[in-house]
Amino acid sequence: MIEKINSLKARIEALSADTPEQVEQLRVQYLSKKGEVSLLFNDFRTVPAEQKREVGQKLNELKNLATERISALREALEAKAEADNEAAIDLTRTATPLPAGTRHPLTLVRGEMLDIFARMGFTIADGPEVEDDWHVFSALNFAADHPARDMQDTFFIARNPADVLLRTHTSSVQTRVMEHTQPPIRIVCPGRVYRNEAISARAHCFFHQIEGLYIDRNVSFADLRQVLLYFARQMFGPETKIRLRPSYFPFTEPSAEMDISCNLCGGKGCGFCKHTGWVEILGCGMVDPAVLEACGIDSKQYSGYAFGMGIERITNLKYRVKDLRMFSENDVRFLDEFVAAK
Ligand code: DAH
Repeated sequence: MIEKINSLKARIEALSADTPEQVEQLRVQYLSKKGEVSLLFNDFRTVPAEQKREVGQKLNELKNLATERISALREALEAKAEADNEAAIDLTRTATPLPAGTRHPLTLVRGEMLDIFARMGFTIADGPEVEDDWHVFSALNFAADHPARDMQDTFFIARNPADVLLRTHTSSVQTRVMEHTQPPIRIVCPGRVYRNEAISARAHCFFHQIEGLYIDRNVSFADLRQVLLYFARQMFGPETKIRLRPSYFPFTEPSAEMDISCNLCGGKGCGFCKHTGWVEILGCGMVDPAVLEACGIDSKQYSGYAFGMGIERITNLKYRVKDLRMFSENDVRFLDEFVAAK
C-alpha cells in the first residue's frame, strides 16, 4: 500500500498539462469518485489496524498533493492566457470615438444671421447685460413715465445710487457705441436680454436679440429696406417677400415693423401665420435725431437706421420649435436634433 502511494505520489508530482481540457482530464483521472486517489481510499479498509495511522496520514497527504498540483496547473494556464491577451492589445488602434456635443440651435442661427450681416459690412459690437437706465431707456428717448421702464417689464437690481437693471433689449449697445464712436457706424449687436414675464411656451424671462445700427451721411429708409430684404432672402430663401407696417418706437422716427411671407405655407395662409400669410420678425426705423444728439452725434450732418429682432423667433421660423422653454431646458433629445444642421 505504501508503495502504491509513493509511486502515485511520484506520478502526481510530475504531472503537466498544456490546455485547460487536459487539466480537467487529470482532475477526473486522479480526484473524481473513481479516480486513482479515491480508489486508494477504498483500499484503506484492507490495511491492517497497526498500519492504519501511518497509511491514513500518507493517503491524506497524497490527496492534498494531487489537489494542489492540479489547481497549480490550472492557475498557471490561466495566467498564461491573460498574458497572451494583453500582448494582443493593439495600442496603435484608433481610440473608441467619444460622443461629441452639438451646437445649440440659437448659436447656430445667431452665427448664420451674423454671417449675413457681415457680408454687408456690419461688424459685431458687444455691451453689458447689467446696464443702467441711461443706456437702456433715457438716451433712447423713452419718456420718464414710459411703461417699458415699469417694474413689470424690467428687472431692477438697484434703484440707488444709479438705476441698475438687466437690459430689456440690445438697443442699449447702440447707445454705448454712439457715445464712443463718430460715424460711419455699421454694427450688429447680438446678446441676451431680460424681461419680467411669466414663463410660458410663448414668453420667457430671458431671450436673445440682434440689434443693427447704421449711421452715416444721407442714410435713407430705402437703404434700410434693402438691407432687410437681403437679410430675409438670405435667411429664408430667395422667394421670401417682406412688408413694412408703420409702428412706434421711442428711439426711431419713422418706425416700422417688418413681416415676412410665412415660410411654412409660402404666404397662402396657415395656422402658424394665423391665416394672414405674414409673420412679424422685427422692429426698425430711422434713428430719432434726439437719440443721435443724446449720444453726441450731430443730427444735422448724420442720419441712420436701426433694427432689432429676436433670435428665438427666427429660429422658430427656421426649425419650427413650438415651445420657447425648449431653448433653455438643455434636454439632449431636443439638442441632438440639430446635429446635422450647419
Ligand atoms: N428694441 C426693440 C425691442 O426690443 C426692437 C427694435 C425696434 C430695435 C426698432 C430697433 C428698432 O433698433 O429700430 O422690441
